Amino acid sequence: MAKVPTREECFEIMEEAKMPPHIIEHSAQVTKIAVFLAEALASSGVPVDTRLVEAGALLHDISKMESIDNGGNHAALGAELLKSRGYPALSPLVERHVDLGEWSEDAPVDEAEIINYADKRVRHDEIVSLGERFDDLIARYGKTDGARTRMERLREEMFRLEKKLFRHLPFAPSHINTL
Ligand SMILES: [Fe+2]
Repeated sequence: MAKVPTREECFEIMEEAKMPPHIIEHSAQVTKIAVFLAEALASSGVPVDTRLVEAGALLHDISKMESIDNGGNHAALGAELLKSRGYPALSPLVERHVDLGEWSEDAPVDEAEIINYADKRVRHDEIVSLGERFDDLIARYGKTDGARTRMERLREEMFRLEKKLFRHLPFAPSHINTL
């Protein structure tokens, strides 16, 4: 079985990385949503590894500060860091949290999809809908036509991902706002 850090070990890794409180707060909210979805999916008979989802969600922004200070892609840096710490199973989850890369509506749900989606439901530390999150992203970063088009494409992709996840669940995406 893949080596996965416990919740306590995740917080130790965050401390060592000197993660600032607002990123810890953001990560805790993403984790709350991701674990809720993973447990609900598991109860609906979708095989997902909840421990892996929890650790991946807690650590998804582990290299955010490093990338703010020194540049680089924080998802790729985080994936590298976790691999070097002996947690290769977490690497693809962190690597794919911004941009999911290859995925399909028809393939089984995987843990990276849950974390990626949960991250899109949190603005700073506040739970929001996908629509609200993308309105904010487009207002902040959609300064050029190219950037806007890319974000609109991502928004459309995320609504497809939401559909994929919720077709297995007995509640609607808006239920997440009540967590
Ligand atoms: Fe991130």
